[in-house]
Amino acid sequence: MTIKSIQTDITTLQIDAIVNAANNTLLGGGGVDDVIHSAAGPELLEECRTLNGCETGDAKITKGYDLPAKYVIHTVGPIYGQYSPNEAKNLLESCYLRSLQLADENKCKSIAFPAVSTGVYMFPKEEATRVAIKTIRDYFQDNEIASTIDEVILVSFNEYDKSLIDSVLKG
Ligand code: APR
Repeated sequence: MTIKSIQTDITTLQIDAIVNAANNTLLGGGGVDDVIHSAAGPELLEECRTLNGCETGDAKITKGYDLPAKYVIHTVGPIYGQYSPNEAKNLLESCYLRSLQLADENKCKSIAFPAVSTGVYMFPKEEATRVAIKTIRDYFQDNEIASTIDEVILVSFNEYDKSLIDSVLKG
């Protein structure tokens, strides 16, 4: 399994699964959630309506519809101000873990994450990047044999976020 860092619009990726930074309703919103729903088309919202929302720290999977990606894994990150730093860290960890588990359950070979919770939800980017990379690395240490995922892509949307991911990966 390799972890790649690229700066791009996540909706352009033609891979097995892209992760959406959603909210508890799963009915769309702003940020990357809005861009993914716009690119996927109305059928994505129709499927999301059948899912009865999603708990913070959990994840649910849908088809990708008009997206080049086969699936969308919707995860709900913590709103940073609503939790203690430790609870927020544990919930963010859970978002990455649950998304990887769903990707494996659906035989995905590739999955791309945006920087969950670091936009509207205000999770500090540096800490969020460290949590993301540690959780992904630990997952593959614990599931080396079982996992079918070959590639995890960390998608940044600006130069600063890209450099942050690259520096933590080099760690
Ligand atoms: N491709 C990749 N990354 C993107 C894109 C894109 N097209 N658009 C935005 N991002 C990045 C942002 O730069 C940020 O680093 O996604 C990250 C997550 O930011 P948000 O989308 O604001 O998500 P989050 O902080 O988890 O807040 C979720 O915001 O958009 C609403 O409906 C969403 O209520 C939910 C909340």
